Amino acid sequence: MNFYRGRRLRQSTVMRDFCRETPPLLREELIMPYFVVETENRSYRKEIASMPGQYQLSLDELEKDVARDVENGLVSAMLYGIPAAKDAQATSAWSEDGIAQQAVRRLKKSFPNLLVITDVCLCEYMSHGHCGILTEHGLILNDETLPILAKTAISLAEAGADILAPSDMMDGRIRTIREALDHAGYASLPIMSYAAKYASSFYGPFRDAAESAPACGDRKSYQMDVGNSREALREIKADIAEGADMIIVKPASSYGDIIALAKSNTLVPVCAYQVSGEYSMIMAAAQKGWINGQAVMLESLNGLKRAGADILVSYFTSRILKDGLAR
Ligand code: PBG
Ligand code: ZN
Repeated sequence: MNFYRGRRLRQSTVMRDFCRETPPLLREELIMPYFVVETENRSYRKEIASMPGQYQLSLDELEKDVARDVENGLVSAMLYGIPAAKDAQATSAWSEDGIAQQAVRRLKKSFPNLLVITDVCLCEYMSHGHCGILTEHGLILNDETLPILAKTAISLAEAGADILAPSDMMDGRIRTIREALDHAGYASLPIMSYAAKYASSFYGPFRDAAESAPACGDRKSYQMDVGNSREALREIKADIAEGADMIIVKPASSYGDIIALAKSNTLVPVCAYQVSGEYSMIMAAAQKGWINGQAVMLESLNGLKRAGADILVSYFTSRILKDGLAR
């Protein structure tokens, strides 16, 4: 009697590992985000209430955490700056001694082999918390925002960033940033574009962490509608045509279809960003004892790899490295 016996390949650990389609995590494919605060207090370290285990850090404390993670095998870090002062032109986003610029210099000096990725956006530096220039009527001025993004990109390049990750979702930003970089002598600096970035409620805890919640309105006129998938492909193709070297899909866990679409319709590395809310939900349920936190953490990241992600941004990266869960 001949019929399909799928259980033949599930009968033992060694047999399952032998047939596994998605390999275990590699440390090279994990990016750890850090929040660095501009503060006089050199030993500033504040846990983010909605993100247990994640901190706002002064430069000195950032260096300590990164040193620990590098010791555990960290390959790449993503930096978010929280400036001392915000204004309506995001001046502190592109100033030479801005907090992100200082952090890049510090990390590249102490850890020359670490890939330092910087977010390129204005919301953390804007008094109103939006990712672009705002009119008095609350409209975002797309084309007026582009030169500020370009200035920000150049100053982060000058500080020594290895990869720039624009996350603002303005139209034409990749082209503007690419041209500015090439013109300034940074033709070899890669751009990892947040190409398919949705107007998601999963970003809630991040906005606590980065103190970047919009003071009025929402981000729906620039971030994508959560109901759309073909639009994601338009955004991704446009960014690649404008010069993006890699693309990010964000959030990750509820967007496996978008990751798969990006993978099958492009030839660039696809990065999935497991965002703050995804991290916080797993942490909260684990703290209540409702789920096995470590198992769910690994299963969630495995799901992103299975969907097609080549690279993962995850707040779990430090822990995965510490616990030896990546090769
Ligand atoms: C800034 C930015 C955000 C995130 C990354 N870059 C927040 C937002 O768009 O409101 C979200 C990251 C996360 O939730 O972990 N544009
Ligand atoms: Zn932003």
